[in-house]
Amino acid sequence: MTDVYYDPYDYAIDADPYPVWKRLRDEAPVYCNERHGFYALSRYDDVLQGLLDHETFRSGHGIVLEMIADEAYENLPMMIMMDPPQHTRLRKLVSRAFTPRRIADLEPRIVAVCDELFASVEGADEFDYSARFAGLLPPTIILSLVGYPEGHAERFRELADQSLHIEEGSTMQGAELERSLVDEHGAIVNDAFAILPDLMAERRADPQDDLITALVFAEVEEDGETRTLTLEEIVAFVQLLSSAGTETVARLLGFAAVTLAQHPDQRELLVDDPGLVPNAIEELLRYEAPSPIQGRWVARDVEFHGTVIPRGSRLALLNGSADRDERHFPDPDSFDVRRHIDRHLAFGYGTHFCIGAALARLEGRVALAETLRRFPVWEVDESRLERVHTATVRGYSSVPMRVR
Ligand code: HEM
Repeated sequence: MTDVYYDPYDYAIDADPYPVWKRLRDEAPVYCNERHGFYALSRYDDVLQGLLDHETFRSGHGIVLEMIADEAYENLPMMIMMDPPQHTRLRKLVSRAFTPRRIADLEPRIVAVCDELFASVEGADEFDYSARFAGLLPPTIILSLVGYPEGHAERFRELADQSLHIEEGSTMQGAELERSLVDEHGAIVNDAFAILPDLMAERRADPQDDLITALVFAEVEEDGETRTLTLEEIVAFVQLLSSAGTETVARLLGFAAVTLAQHPDQRELLVDDPGLVPNAIEELLRYEAPSPIQGRWVARDVEFHGTVIPRGSRLALLNGSADRDERHFPDPDSFDVRRHIDRHLAFGYGTHFCIGAALARLEGRVALAETLRRFPVWEVDESRLERVHTATVRGYSSVPMRVR
């Protein structure tokens, strides 16, 4: 018997979950939290199995622990909350926009946005790396890929924060995710998406090389019939891509600023040899996963380490713990930008493997290289760090960075 207690809604545990996750891996590899009613798998091999077996571990009943229910989740038509074959159809529609070549073409744009954002803090001794840089780069890039005009990044950064926020002591997901995207009169509820119908009409008349164009011309087969996407489906796509592509990359960059300030020897290696930056991004993702918990609904009784997880259970796949599993990574709690990493699970794995992984890696690589080029040395005032509080994303919302 073990007395280890893991609660993903506890702010103190969230600030440093690694000691608890280590105890789960060692003492309770099939952990059951009776208070909140969920199981958790924390070892690398088990999490990988959970991510790969989408028939047993389903996404179609919701993927945020507190939302997962026995009924299929149908409130929002987002592919991240669907199982094959419905998921496969939708994923195909957008995967062309995320091929490595299409993404690589974005590099000059990402460099230009970094230049602009750093120009706005030029000469300052200290600035908030998260609010002024890390939180703004990702929505700017994803919105241009989607086909939004400039000037909306700040609103999307706010939206992503609000829709995922959880108050201390509460387990409820921010109300925005529960709400419909389109009201009973067919009108868009959230102002961030209000310009979509106009953009869609423009793209129908004058197609561009962007996602809105791909979505308005896309066709799906359903019950033997071919149809185009509904307005609600298109709004859901834009919301999914903008929130998934904003929060996570912002947290990755915040972790980069804090972790490298804590490990100046590692930062110096990167300044001396920028060729190490891509591997440093992989190590940062392994060391501090921005999205460390993937929720699933269990579709059949399934046994791990002699314990049965019954059908109908809610399950947390702790990929953030898996990437610190000493059974897979030697000396997992040390941060080493030269570490050889065969496969980390920060982007998930299998059917729902992050569609934005190539984009996230490119943004991470460019942003970190541009940061190091301008500021080879910096300090973070840890007493003023602020964190986001969500059931899905972990990291800092405020990173006060002193650069000279
Ligand atoms: C460091 C940055 C990122 C991290 C750590 C991350 C992490 C993840 C993870 C763990 C999943 C799997 C979810 C699951 O299994 O239920 C996922 C899926 C997804 N991610 Fe990312 N992500 C990042 C960046 C992005 C970006 C830039 C985009 C923008 C397009 C994006 C869009 C998505 C989408 C649409 C899915 C759902 C894929 C599907 O259901 O097939 N992500 N991401």
